Amino acid sequence: MKVFISGNIAPVALQQLEENNISITQWKEDRQITPDELIEACKNQDGFISVGPNKINADFLNACSHLKVIALHSVGFDQVDVETAKKLNIPVGNTPGVLSAATADTAFLLMLAVSRKAFFGYKKIIDGNWVKYEPAQELGIELNGKTLGVFGLGKIGLEMAKKCKAAYGMNVIYHNRSKNEEAEKEVDAQYVSFDELLAQSDVLTVHTALTSETKEKFSLEVFKKMKTSSIFINTARGGIHNEADLTQAITEKIIWGAGLDVTNPEPMDKNNPLLFMESVAVLPHIGSATEETRAAMAELIVENILAGLKGEQLPYPIY
Ligand code: DGY
Repeated sequence: MKVFISGNIAPVALQQLEENNISITQWKEDRQITPDELIEACKNQDGFISVGPNKINADFLNACSHLKVIALHSVGFDQVDVETAKKLNIPVGNTPGVLSAATADTAFLLMLAVSRKAFFGYKKIIDGNWVKYEPAQELGIELNGKTLGVFGLGKIGLEMAKKCKAAYGMNVIYHNRSKNEEAEKEVDAQYVSFDELLAQSDVLTVHTALTSETKEKFSLEVFKKMKTSSIFINTARGGIHNEADLTQAITEKIIWGAGLDVTNPEPMDKNNPLLFMESVAVLPHIGSATEETRAAMAELIVENILAGLKGEQLPYPIY
């Protein structure tokens, strides 16, 4: 059996695939593979491990309907045309659960970095602008006892809520399509309407999937309903906020700051104005990037691939 991998993955996965006599072809170039190259690369393969934002759309799926399995190197699957995959009977699997703690760590890191203008302070030093002690400059805001609003309280959101509650005694409110009773018990989270979430959150953290419902949900109109002292955190998908509106909201002090691990587009342009703002912290989509989590994701990917190649039900299917 043959598998194409569109990027680098943890060596443990390659080793396990080889132990199962699977022949691997891997995309090794520094740039992202193009849609045409991807179709060409998957032509004579049995399985495909999708690393990065490859568009698994109708064009790709129709051209590669021979694939026995597609294993995503992510929990998010907004890049997949699920209806077409279903219609063509191509099983697609993802990596749920194992990356919740690492991704929540990234959200927490951004929240703290924004609240203390940490990235801006670092830039000030490397730009040679730290010239004297300035007690009235770059003042941050404290998080103790503040309200954390979670938009999309699933596994990752719950991990973030636990950390915020343990570290700062934050009060947790959330807005979901349906109530999360586990979270209500574990962190005393209170369900609120979307408008209440906007009005009450001191830190609003996004942990929902990118869908037609959540696409550009955070627009200028929405930022205007938030507190002027609030921090917006997005570690889910860049498409959930409108980046020009977010830039305007921070510039015009409609909200206080933002922490992003996801941008729109990715990679973010190095001259993007958000990168030069005091109360903004941006990371290059490293949410789940730890040795431990990437190894755990690799295990799930291998399980999905092996099951799919044998024609068995995937252990972690997206549909
Ligand atoms: C995920 O797992 O969805 C991460 O954001 C990587 O894409």
